[in-house]
Amino acid sequence: MKVLATRRYPGPAFDELGDVEVGPLQPRGDVEALLVANEPVDASGFPALRLVANFGVGYDRIGVAALGERGIAVTNTPGVLDAATADLTWALILAARRRVAEGDRRVRAGEWTGSWADGFLAEELSGSTLGIVGLGRIGSAVARRAEGFELRVLSARRSGGTPLDELLAESDIVTIHAPLTAETQGLLDARRLSLLSDGACLVNTARGEIVDEDALVRELVAGRIRAGLDVFAHEPHVPDELLSLPNVVLTPHLGSATRQTREAMTRIVVDNVLAHERGDALVTPVET
Ligand code: 8YV
Repeated sequence: MKVLATRRYPGPAFDELGDVEVGPLQPRGDVEALLVANEPVDASGFPALRLVANFGVGYDRIGVAALGERGIAVTNTPGVLDAATADLTWALILAARRRVAEGDRRVRAGEWTGSWADGFLAEELSGSTLGIVGLGRIGSAVARRAEGFELRVLSARRSGGTPLDELLAESDIVTIHAPLTAETQGLLDARRLSLLSDGACLVNTARGEIVDEDALVRELVAGRIRAGLDVFAHEPHVPDELLSLPNVVLTPHLGSATRQTREAMTRIVVDNVLAHERGDALVTPVET
């Protein structure tokens, strides 16, 4: 089976693919399986295409419905990146809440000249309220870690849980763990962001488009809230206004970026391709 991968995915499993080529997503008549990392796929350029194996749990940009209409199967990599993404979420919560990146910049700038006993104060983590938007596998892993930090946890789910507006108003820290869908796009709009209490911290390791990015930038420029952002609406573009702000910590979409997790993701991608080649059931099919 002719396989085209948009990059060489990390780990030894990649070498188990037989006829694989690494190259850009350009129209090709011979390609039967595509390995992508949430890149949009225009199936009309790939007449022989039967499988799109996504390196990632989120597949919001691929165009799954159109692929399904042509009978092209799609797979993703659920389950193996929950711990890595939850850990990065906590790194951002701690960094934003305890002013870690800001402190690092001050030290490097030679601005640490004496005791900070009366300044550079942050808000305590323990005893505060964490609001989790989306309590799936990753949100639940974040919630489990919250026990160790002695936080009170609220969660807003598709069905049940704390109503979103109430969660936003009551939480000291809000973290997003929902997939990007038509329902969640722009879910945290200007009105909802304004419900966050002064000094609250918003963390996003899910998808930038779930938050109205312009409205978020306005809140951060005003200094009313803090944020830890791993994802952005137009990656790799990061709004210029954020670059000089002390109240936001920025990372380049690192959620799943541990060696172990990325290798496990490749393992699943390859297992799906091999299963398809054998005519077996796909390991982690996406509903198209
Ligand atoms: C990326 C992710 O896919 O799994 C997801 O949904 O966003 C990430 O794991 C990965 O960083 C490759 O781009």
